[in-house]
Amino acid sequence: MQRGETQRGITKWMLLVGAVISVAGILFGYDQGVISGALLGIGKDFHVGTTATEIITSWVTLGALVGALVAGVMADKIGRRPTLLFAGSLFSIGALIEALAPGTEVLVVGRLVVGFAVGVASVAAPLYAAEMAPSRLRGMFVSGYQLGITFGIFLAYLVDELMSASDWRLMLGVSAVVGVALVILVLPLPDSPRWYLKVGRRNDARDAIAKVAGDPDPDATIAELEADVAGETQASWGVAFSKRWRTPLIVGVGLAVFQQITGINAIIYYADKIFDAAGFSTVASQTAATTWAIGAVNVLATLIAVFFVDRLGRKPLLIAGLIGMTISLTAVGFAFQELGDISHAPSSQGPSDAGAITLVALVVYIASFAMSMGPIVWTIINEIYPREVRGRMVSIATAVNWFSAWLVSQFFLTLVKQLGESETFWLFAALCVAALAFVWRKVPETKDRTLEEIEQMWNAPKA
Ligand code: BGC
Repeated sequence: MQRGETQRGITKWMLLVGAVISVAGILFGYDQGVISGALLGIGKDFHVGTTATEIITSWVTLGALVGALVAGVMADKIGRRPTLLFAGSLFSIGALIEALAPGTEVLVVGRLVVGFAVGVASVAAPLYAAEMAPSRLRGMFVSGYQLGITFGIFLAYLVDELMSASDWRLMLGVSAVVGVALVILVLPLPDSPRWYLKVGRRNDARDAIAKVAGDPDPDATIAELEADVAGETQASWGVAFSKRWRTPLIVGVGLAVFQQITGINAIIYYADKIFDAAGFSTVASQTAATTWAIGAVNVLATLIAVFFVDRLGRKPLLIAGLIGMTISLTAVGFAFQELGDISHAPSSQGPSDAGAITLVALVVYIASFAMSMGPIVWTIINEIYPREVRGRMVSIATAVNWFSAWLVSQFFLTLVKQLGESETFWLFAALCVAALAFVWRKVPETKDRTLEEIEQMWNAPKA
């Protein structure tokens, strides 16, 4: 439905596709965010130490890594729609396992199941949306995904704030509803016409176009899509890693890694703990700071990217965002030098100056990330790959992103213990500078280019 599309308005079916991608984002985000508030209660009930806390927090990403790797193949074999139905159902099952876990081990199993489902959805949903969306709306659909992620994180924080830490089972359990919502939304939709054609189901492809695009005469679209699908050879893993596609591989994987090692999920996951260390002495003040300063700002600043990514371009936003992230992380590092002894003093009168600086700096950090590295990394990963290797490379870049997220969340508390708070934040700041250099030198501007032009760009001899 990307080429021969008509100029018809948005049908209710397209809105439904938009809802599917957003709910898939919420699934991803809710799960990332909810653990931050649930950890306190889990810690009390199960008496977990640092390592177990890190495992409970971060193994969701390990599950997601595996999920992302199998999702591409699965979506090709059984279709995008069944893959999404599978992800939604599995997610709900995982959420129930978490909620009912009698001890740490079962809880970790639940985290892995939920993570696997999120990983599958994180590849299948954008793929489905990209194939269902008319090309003039494709950018909006991808941004809808990141907006869903940030909204999910915000929702999770809100749930954390409204419930007390001892309700952690309910906090984790309610996410089953989101999985069910995904299933309900996907059920009435057809699979993507492109997938139907790939497996030789021409009539179904016709029906899907007639239904979703509201096109009573879908034959022109079908003809173009067929030509497209016929020219689409499925390259092997060897081709995906060949010298020919080395540059886009490095750009996508590099961005996927930098999105994570510049610290975003250390902040998302451990926000309450950071505010605790920054002198927010009551649990209520910590969760309020997390919900509004991190969660709400994350959603709002994502809108900046949605609005400007096609006007200003990807690179200017990435560069501006990374500069903001570097400065704010450096400031948090300095604030924590002050906080060293303050956090040990009985702090009954709320956050100190250094605590307030931490709060402001983290707001700047989140806003800078949300207008740049958050949405734009996903946009670039989904647009820079040549057709013949797109599926595999998107899977690889997504899996690498999850692996990097796992590394950071797994070792953040250990890093803080070994290096100290200030030094850990400065390390993230230094990695932002490295990311800046990478974006500056390696990442091409893709604004206003068609996917075909981007493909040709990799083949052009270097000037
Ligand atoms: C990242 C997530 C992160 C989220 C924060 C996404 O783009 O991939 O790892 O938690 O942004 O909003």
